[in-house]
Amino acid sequence: MARPRTSIHGQWSSRWAFVLAAAGSAVGLGNIWKFPYITGQNGGGAFVLVYLACIAVIGIPIMMAEVMIGRRGRQSPINTMINLSEEAGRSRYWSLLGWSGVIAGFLILSYYSVIAGWGLAYVFRTAIGMFHGADADKVGAIFKDFLASPERLLAWHTIFMVMTMVVVARGVRSGLEQAVRFLMPALFVLLIVMVGYAMHIAAFAKGVEFLFSPDFSKLSRDSVLIAMGHAFFTLSLGMGAIMIYGSYMPERVSIAKTTFLIVGADTLVALMAGLAIFPIVFDNGLEPSAGPGLIFVTLPLAFGQMPGGALFGTLFFVLVVFAAWTSSISLIEPAVTWLVENHGMCRLTACMWAGIVTWLMGVGTVFSFNLWSEDKLFGKTFFDLLDYLTANIMLPLGGLFIAIFAAWVMREADVREELAMVNKFGFRLWRFLVRYVTPVGVVIVFLNAIGVIK
Ligand code: PHE
Repeated sequence: MARPRTSIHGQWSSRWAFVLAAAGSAVGLGNIWKFPYITGQNGGGAFVLVYLACIAVIGIPIMMAEVMIGRRGRQSPINTMINLSEEAGRSRYWSLLGWSGVIAGFLILSYYSVIAGWGLAYVFRTAIGMFHGADADKVGAIFKDFLASPERLLAWHTIFMVMTMVVVARGVRSGLEQAVRFLMPALFVLLIVMVGYAMHIAAFAKGVEFLFSPDFSKLSRDSVLIAMGHAFFTLSLGMGAIMIYGSYMPERVSIAKTTFLIVGADTLVALMAGLAIFPIVFDNGLEPSAGPGLIFVTLPLAFGQMPGGALFGTLFFVLVVFAAWTSSISLIEPAVTWLVENHGMCRLTACMWAGIVTWLMGVGTVFSFNLWSEDKLFGKTFFDLLDYLTANIMLPLGGLFIAIFAAWVMREADVREELAMVNKFGFRLWRFLVRYVTPVGVVIVFLNAIGVIK
């Protein structure tokens, strides 16, 4: 198979379009919803530190590798892997990496859409003033009541899936690119407002301390795995999303520089979300370890009390939905491009198939908050299990093999050509990291989690 120099699916109009799209993929529910709640469940500071270390040592090198592979292959992750393994004269079995990515994308989107649906519901709930003057008990009761209704969760999940598929169906430039242009900057501004509000709360210092002063006794083996898994999840790594976005990247755009921008923006948004949320948690005597509902029982409290809260609250949840939207499109893009390339489908038909299958899977997540909430496997509900399997196992494994492929399988000359780093030391450092540090790091965290090493 000859290696195409542009993707048949399109190309970003500029370097900035790529940065915005990739940042749009990275910044999502992972930053605003998941990061605060898992930080709360895993004891705060020490967990945050491990997460930041994983971003730096594992996340950055792997993102560069994934973008590089994508741009060189210029096809869906499955076909890109076939192409590049042929280029390197290696086994076509590397396409399995593309497959595991497509499957992980399906699984993640199936629950991601349900949670994004909660966000949608809360747009309307804040808008009609449902939380005005409410105390912690009332806000908690409203959320519990909401989760108990499979019909409502299902309806919002359906709406969000349709929203996602409409953008994906419109394609690279008029769909994906337009969507992220305005939404990302707006989200940033609103988060600054929220942090500004939190700074005036008496418990702000306590929130900061919880996030940034590490107490390693609170860190379990599992916490370390969760921190690493989250580094992959939040940067959209290990499943082909960043690879496919890289395949739409123009030639001659610096992969290293754009990676730093994307990772920087993503990390900043997560830390800001933490700074906005934990002061409210402590101020109201709530439990940091409340779980997936954390932002839905803390933020409405703040919106119910602050002046103009209905307006800010509505805007905030609108932006949460937008952040989720720009991520969800990248979760399904690898599958859609593969259906177009290998099954001769048009984009619209491919979207419909991919959307229907994902929607069906999502029903399991909807039920795990009500009808099936007592049905557990390994002590986890269907949703917990999906989340654990994808974020903590599939993505790090995918990332591990991406690193191995970029550093050990592809020819060095090809990699050097594609990365085109002017800074020779930078290239050597990157190669050293993906060759040794990153793979060893991932393996150590895995072995540690299953108790093989201490
Ligand atoms: N990075 C997204 C978030 O933080 C989730 C995501 C994971 C998107 C994997 C694409 C691929 O919400």
